[in-house]
Amino acid sequence: MDYNDAVRLEKKYFAQLFDRLPLLITSGKDVYVFDSQGKKYLDIFSGVAVSSVGHAHPAVVKAIKDQAGKLIHASNWVYTEPQLELAEKLTKLTGLERVFYSNDGAGAVEASLKLARSVTGKKEIISMEKSFHGRTFGALSATWSEKYRKPFMPLVPGFKFAKYNDIESLKKEITDDTAAVIVEPILGEAGVIIPDDNYLQQVRELTQKKGALLIVDEIQTGFGRTGEWFEYKRAKIKPDILLLAKGLGGGFPVGAILYSGFDYKKGEHGGTFNGSPLACTIAKTVIEIIEKEKLVVNSKKTGKYLIDKLKGYKTHGRGLMIGLDVDDGKKQALKLIENGLIPIYSGNTLRILPPLTLKREHADNIIRKITEVIPK
Ligand SMILES: Cc1ncc(COP(=O)(O)O)c(C=O)c1O
Repeated sequence: MDYNDAVRLEKKYFAQLFDRLPLLITSGKDVYVFDSQGKKYLDIFSGVAVSSVGHAHPAVVKAIKDQAGKLIHASNWVYTEPQLELAEKLTKLTGLERVFYSNDGAGAVEASLKLARSVTGKKEIISMEKSFHGRTFGALSATWSEKYRKPFMPLVPGFKFAKYNDIESLKKEITDDTAAVIVEPILGEAGVIIPDDNYLQQVRELTQKKGALLIVDEIQTGFGRTGEWFEYKRAKIKPDILLLAKGLGGGFPVGAILYSGFDYKKGEHGGTFNGSPLACTIAKTVIEIIEKEKLVVNSKKTGKYLIDKLKGYKTHGRGLMIGLDVDDGKKQALKLIENGLIPIYSGNTLRILPPLTLKREHADNIIRKITEVIPK
């Protein structure tokens, strides 16, 4: 299949949902992906912050082969080893007590909203302006953008919004009937927007005072993306509920919610595929690679190097989660693709989210390719 075949087939058979980049990607290796003509690109978006350990990491490939030959699926009617081993690993890593799995980010958000309403007996959920939490009905109800919400009204009742990075706004919205406040530590889809240093702490203190749960959505920021294992650790707070996905599976669809001090009632939530042996084996392997290859420190160092070397451009970011403001996001992204780099964009912000395995020489390459085609 060549690129033109792909465009034709997609137009004819596929849901017309996406405004795709002009690329037919056929394979990947570490920080590179290759198109159908063998052209090599530095992947600086990781399939939207997902390919945390790069493409086709040998340990991930081996884990998939070994586990697929043993047991791919069993369901939650029975115990399976990988599910429980990953649960132990995630609780140790996060300091939270219990785990439930999802198959993606939105699934983790849904699980958290149900848990929050169930354990508090309260109805209200407060989310933040400009936030993105996913496309299913609950997650969409917590998502800000009119463009995503409008066609599907009415959404789930009981949701409202406070201004991001504005504790006074949250104080105005929070009430005794607030079950939870859900917050991204850095706004990802909105274009890498970083709040003030003490913002998360202020949200933690306020939710505690008001008896509302704090749901921290680290679906995009988690697992070293920002140069820390998790942003809540940088902020020195403990969420009541933590949401993870994206980088956790390194490309395999899996998410998780972690929480402490309460639990679901039996039968309140579930899903046929949640926490399959294959998904959990892969996620455990990805975490082990991040630990062994010290990718969190690498993300911090290489991200700082990139931002320093992009002096003269308008950048904002942490670790390997970087926004670069330009005059026209789409136009500049297409120029970069021509030049062998694949970013994504949110409005007029290019988003640079490479695999955490990115080395100094790759970073130099990124800087060179950006400066070649994007004016300062
Ligand atoms: C912070 C955040 N939460 C939730 C989601 C939804 O995840 P998914 O697309 O896997 O449903 C995303 C996806 O971009 C995200 O960035």
